[in-house]
Amino acid sequence: MEATEAKFMGNGVEKPVSRDDLIHFIRSVVSSNEKQQETDPFYVLDMGAIRSLVNTWFHNLPMVQPFYAVKCNPNPAFLKEMAALGTGFDCASLAEMETILSLGVSPDRIVFANTCKPESHIKYAAKVGVNLTTFDSKCELEKIKRCHPKCALLIRIKVPETSDATFKFGSKFGALPDEIVPLLRAAQAAKLQVNGVSFHIGSRASNFHAFEDAIQVAKTTFNTAARLGLPKMHVLNIGGGFTSGPKFTEASSAVKVALQKYFPNEPPNEGLKIMAEPGRFFANSSFTLATSIIGKRIRSGVREHSIKLRLRSLSRLRSRCRGCGRCGRYVTHNG
Ligand SMILES: Cc1ncc(COP(=O)(O)O)c(C=O)c1O
Repeated sequence: MEATEAKFMGNGVEKPVSRDDLIHFIRSVVSSNEKQQETDPFYVLDMGAIRSLVNTWFHNLPMVQPFYAVKCNPNPAFLKEMAALGTGFDCASLAEMETILSLGVSPDRIVFANTCKPESHIKYAAKVGVNLTTFDSKCELEKIKRCHPKCALLIRIKVPETSDATFKFGSKFGALPDEIVPLLRAAQAAKLQVNGVSFHIGSRASNFHAFEDAIQVAKTTFNTAARLGLPKMHVLNIGGGFTSGPKFTEASSAVKVALQKYFPNEPPNEGLKIMAEPGRFFANSSFTLATSIIGKRIRSGVREHSIKLRLRSLSRLRSRCRGCGRCGRYVTHNG
């Protein structure tokens, strides 16, 4: 979803603005724009919410460095704040890398987390010094060998789909269990450096035991690499799938339990580097969409609101608030 513009607000402290202040702010923007018959939709970006979420992340998962998934929302002010707060970035394309580097972020804070990259984007990564990427096929290894042979690699694995996620990635991304050995052998033969493993349990997950299942498969992959004689793996990328609110406490506990179980002898920041690629966790509740409701109906007991998203784009929302409970934020169902 893309709206025309973002407005910023913050209360100067590291917590989200109150619901009342948010509504007051939205009303003030709308009334300052009275000349237009209908106000165009806009986002409100709550700077305090970003800071609070980053604090929450480091409080709950101090051993896991977040690399914000830029594709989730590339709003420039949001990215700038994330950069200032010290996160890394998961970039999926040349354009995303360019955007992040233009903020003065050093290339070692970027993972090029796309398992199917155009050669020109890999060459760009080599040129600017983005030296960490993911792969899940021999074809990708061949391109990396040609365009960026010094790049460190993470093998993206397909993990058991036990997370009850709304968006599952297993059918698109990740090496299947019986593909792991041939892929590691191919990397070894090509003298490419596989530093570790990455996975994604799926977006908007609700069963966080999935982290335990996934981290177990990752550990098996570390062992497989050791058995094949590859240099010791030392990077574990646990992907995204996190949402803010009480579910984050649940998710982070599950991650900590699984790390303790499968990587018990790896003191944080020594030996094993643990990273993640959260997108929705940071972007969802930092942004609120303010828009006009231009139609309503009730169908099968569900209230639906038609809203204006951009000047010429409409969308229908089902009228159940599934947001943070603070501001009546809606999740859109486009179409
Ligand atoms: C490779 C990758 N990493 C991270 C994310 C972010 O996931 P989430 O928003 O569930 O945290 C995505 C989502 O599309 C992804 O494809």
